[in-house]
Amino acid sequence: MNMTKRTIVALPGDGIGRHVLEECIRVLDKAGFDASYVEGDIGWEFWKSEGNPLPDRTIELLEKHKIGLFGAITSKPKDAAFAELDPGLKEKGLVYSSPIVGLRQHFNLDVCIRPCKTYTGNPLNFIRRGAGDSIEEPEVDVAIFRQNTEGLYGGVEWSNPPDIVYNGLATHPKFKKNFGTVPREELSISTRIFTKKATERILRAAFAHAVKFGYKSVTVCEKPNVIRETSGMMYKMAQEIQAADFPGIELWNTNIDAQMMWLTKNPETYGVIVAGNMFGDIVSDGFAGLIGGLGFACSANLGEEVSVFEPTHGSAPKYADYSESIVNPIAMVESACMMLDHIGEAEISGRIRSAIAQVIMEGKVRTYDMMKMTGRADVIKNGAASTRQMAEAIIAKL
Ligand code: NAI
Ligand code: MG
Repeated sequence: MNMTKRTIVALPGDGIGRHVLEECIRVLDKAGFDASYVEGDIGWEFWKSEGNPLPDRTIELLEKHKIGLFGAITSKPKDAAFAELDPGLKEKGLVYSSPIVGLRQHFNLDVCIRPCKTYTGNPLNFIRRGAGDSIEEPEVDVAIFRQNTEGLYGGVEWSNPPDIVYNGLATHPKFKKNFGTVPREELSISTRIFTKKATERILRAAFAHAVKFGYKSVTVCEKPNVIRETSGMMYKMAQEIQAADFPGIELWNTNIDAQMMWLTKNPETYGVIVAGNMFGDIVSDGFAGLIGGLGFACSANLGEEVSVFEPTHGSAPKYADYSESIVNPIAMVESACMMLDHIGEAEISGRIRSAIAQVIMEGKVRTYDMMKMTGRADVIKNGAASTRQMAEAIIAKL
């Protein structure tokens, strides 16, 4: 156990991010996690007032303390962002960009983990038809490892590409054959770049996780038969790494399209899944849907120095100003549990997870999403638990 008091950078952000983080920190306190929190400014308010949703002072806090616990932020399209900017800043040529993407890039948070584990008794669990008239509720327990900084989301793209790019592409026989006669201004190009270093880091993280948590397999979920260079490189490296360093873990290979079909057929078969940026994004949302959706989907963004833990959901602005917050804090609390695992406080995370499991199993306290209600201010009157009440129920089980 770590005896020195930790400092965590709390990044509430916007909307419901603020509500879920506040409740999450109460749960952490009551679970006996001895830490102090410094608040980092991030999100829409800081875009409007300072023209920067990720101020330098927030970067400095993370540089110093290394661990961030993040709620959610609001992002809006370019024009809407400009319209809300402080009038005094409008002449400065500022352009809005998402601060969470900014954090991932600045600190090279290249390993993203998104676990999806069924809680027994969750009314949102996926069910399927079995033999005869039977209904089966498969127990999902997967951890998706998504490369977080490269690939199709790497941002290297053009419409009407400049000469040097166009001419470079034109040296490829397939480009010449399939696109050579298309007017250049009708071309839009987004690249999919994988590096060996980042690919090795995500693969090794996936295998190490399988060993640490007792999963028997790692599945590379890409499309190496078609996307030969990038997916192909990832699968080949996985084979080498497995053979050299993880012979006790089975290596499986699925294509992203087939995997999405198998998701509802046999999700219980999979353990650790590893993929590039976009396919990891897709497959993790797919699995999250089987275990309850956004109210349950947690994540970790790990870099070599700094790590940030966050629920997958956004700021849900339409619920932000309810007098009593209605959203489910479990995704946020689960993200904090991943933080605890990461910093060597697995005993505390274990107790929090078992408290959540008990609350869900009992079924007496459920937020509106768990009751399949439409999110509105009156859900609490109709029997749904508030964000606070769910946190209280978890605390009561600790
Ligand atoms: P969202 O995740 O904020 O909300 C979508 C819907 O999911 C909500 O209306 C609600 O019905 C449900 N939901 C979300 N979190 C929930 C929770 N904890 N408990 C119960 N139900 C929950 O996504 P949306 O509406 O597309 O985006 C809203 C804003 O959030 C946008 O400005 C978007 O850019 C931003 N966003 C930020 C993210 C982040 O901070 N990492 C991620 C996704 C969106
Ligand atoms: Mg997504």
